[in-house]
Amino acid sequence: MNLTVIGTGYVGLVTGACFAEMGRTVTCVDVDAGKIEGLKAGVLPIYEPGLEEIVLRNSAEDRLHFTTELPEAMQDSKVYFIAVGTPPGEDGSADLQYVLAVARQIGRHLDGYSVIVDKSTVPVGTADKVRAAVQAELDVRGVKIPFDVVSNPEFLKEGAAVADFMRPDRIIVGCESERAREIMKKLYAPFNRNRERVIYMGVKEAEMTKYAANALLATKISFMNEIANLCDLLGVDVESVREGIGSDSRIGSHFIYPGCGYGGSCFPKDVQALIRTAHARGYATPVLDAVEARNAAQKQVLFQKLSRRFGSDLRGHTFAVWGLAFKPGTDDLREAPARVLIEALLNAGASVRAYDPVAMDAARKEWPAAWFEAGRLSLAAHQYEALEGADALVLVTEWKPFRHPDFAAMKRLLKAPIILDGRNQYDPEELQPLGFEYEGIGRGLALPSVKDFTGSLARR
Ligand SMILES: NC(=O)c1ccc[n+]([C@@H]2O[C@H](COP(=O)([O-])OP(=O)(O)OC[C@H]3O[C@@H](n4cnc5c(N)ncnc54)[C@H](O)[C@@H]3O)[C@@H](O)[C@H]2O)c1
Repeated sequence: MNLTVIGTGYVGLVTGACFAEMGRTVTCVDVDAGKIEGLKAGVLPIYEPGLEEIVLRNSAEDRLHFTTELPEAMQDSKVYFIAVGTPPGEDGSADLQYVLAVARQIGRHLDGYSVIVDKSTVPVGTADKVRAAVQAELDVRGVKIPFDVVSNPEFLKEGAAVADFMRPDRIIVGCESERAREIMKKLYAPFNRNRERVIYMGVKEAEMTKYAANALLATKISFMNEIANLCDLLGVDVESVREGIGSDSRIGSHFIYPGCGYGGSCFPKDVQALIRTAHARGYATPVLDAVEARNAAQKQVLFQKLSRRFGSDLRGHTFAVWGLAFKPGTDDLREAPARVLIEALLNAGASVRAYDPVAMDAARKEWPAAWFEAGRLSLAAHQYEALEGADALVLVTEWKPFRHPDFAAMKRLLKAPIILDGRNQYDPEELQPLGFEYEGIGRGLALPSVKDFTGSLARR
């Protein structure tokens, strides 16, 4: 049973590569000719740990193929995974234009019983729209061909996508036909060996499960960020509170790490899309609205802390930023908190020297060339180079190389030994004797306010 995976982004490429790794022959299709040319030449469009190795191996062993031509890919396969983007539309609802364009194209070339699998994150009711789009094309062709549409949302995490796909917590299959269910069961059997991981349910239930999962994870983060901000006001260290509540098995220790907001291509857009789905039914979503509002505000927290320390006019100041990707392990800058911080700093007149272990190329493409040319934003070749002469370090993404840095070297390189820790990576008790000013998120410690200084930095 050969597979076609449509869309070679984070989800599609990982899906295709992992099925090939389990012995299937897979053709990955994308409309982006540059991506496909690169993949044919062994150049991956994204960074994801372990992915390059399996893409190269399976391509060399002739199990993994790449093309821009969907009809060509469809010839040898009867299972089509749709893994294209579902970005937010203007009103925040999921934009289904790419999913439905693929569905129509499938309908134009379908030539025998097939299973169409929605792997993209799509609102409840999308499988019906995909079915209708395929059927409309079959009607135009005047042919009767049976097919099933299955919902199989993906739960991989960027930065650990291959490991998540290979050893998933669960595999959700929303399916209303026995024939399609048997095919999905066979396909996922290699990922399902030591315990049953597939949960079968209705198509709409599967679509909703994905949104409910992401919305709940986002809720945990926003809740904890709100508690952290309150801890700051009360002089309480949220890290002790986090340990204290995380040990409760009803709460659990995951996704309660305070920080400078969640980003990425999933949580922000999926929370928004779920809100839009509810509003379209006339249903208010005060919990989800608050999750979103807290997150938008949380992305401003680092800038607010810097403004309190250095003043609102930041002309003449340079800040080192460690971490640009929205989380460690990826080069994905979508909705990253670093974007909000950097744009706010530049707007306030500051310069930024940034470093990220893998997102530098993505950053160079992402921000206006004028910022780089004017020297307002520069990318350092090394994490320590970013510190040279900077007024403070702001840690935004908790990459491993940032966890145990050489504080003595940092003190020498920074103009002033000031660390603003957006991910609570450092121990204030270790930093204080070294002479650092330190502030995290909800540690109950504030950098001295600019009002506490007269000619503050000059005096140091
Ligand atoms: N990124 C994640 O961590 C993640 C996790 C779970 C689910 N998802 C969901 O999976 C879906 C894909 O996400 P992603 O991050 O992989 O997206 P992405 O933007 O990285 O990749 C989407 C790809 O689809 C291609 N594409 C668009 N239209 C096409 C068409 N008509 N034919 C062929 N290819 C086409 C694009 O060129 C692009 O390469 C989204 O719905 C997303 O919400 C993403």
